[in-house]
Amino acid sequence: MDLLKRPIIAPSVLAADFSDLGRAAREIDEAGAEWLHLDVMDGRFVPNLTFGPKTAADLRPHSRAIFDVHLMTEEPEKLVPAFVNGGADNITFHLEAAVHAHRLLESIREAGKKAGISIVPSTPVSLLEDLLPFADIVLVMTVNPGFGGQKLIPQCLEKVKTLVKIRRERSLDYLISVDGGINLSTAARAREAGADVLVTGTVFFNAPDKAALVRELRG
Ligand code: DX5
Ligand code: ZN
Repeated sequence: MDLLKRPIIAPSVLAADFSDLGRAAREIDEAGAEWLHLDVMDGRFVPNLTFGPKTAADLRPHSRAIFDVHLMTEEPEKLVPAFVNGGADNITFHLEAAVHAHRLLESIREAGKKAGISIVPSTPVSLLEDLLPFADIVLVMTVNPGFGGQKLIPQCLEKVKTLVKIRRERSLDYLISVDGGINLSTAARAREAGADVLVTGTVFFNAPDKAALVRELRG
């Protein structure tokens, strides 16, 4: 079951100029991208540190986009309430950081938000199987999380194909998102694999014509 014919484009503000994130949010809107991807990093789950719930709340008035929060943090359950109040629409956390992932997915949904689960390149899809009925988004990391500007790991796209197959066989309806190293050529491969959402940071914020890039990434 193809949920979406053309993928959603989710620029990541990790690659933007942090001294002017309001401008980055407006650029995402003006480019016609549907989601604004917020990479939250705590310096523990990943070796980088970015921003927290207040950044999402401060950006909220500057954007019409869906706020797609990606928690690359230990103890994500501690951050979820503040992002719920801070204007997040989607909240995705890492399986590797949450023993009680089922409970956390349920609590995000109970808060009226879309619940997402993400896996790093070394985590197999099989570890997600019992959670898939409770997820609105599955975020497949196609780089090792922590930094933008990395090269996509091609083997990770096989996970997208597996998730498409499982979704069809079990009549589930999660969106499959890919995140890391997405450019025009890897976007084509991600679309072929069946990705519904393409997260892109470096390529978007370095593009001279962002609207044209969004159209090309959609294929
Ligand atoms: C990496 C982040 C990605 C990253 C994507 O840990 O989760 O969202 O910002 O950036 P690019 O497109 O530069 O790989
Ligand atoms: Zn991300």
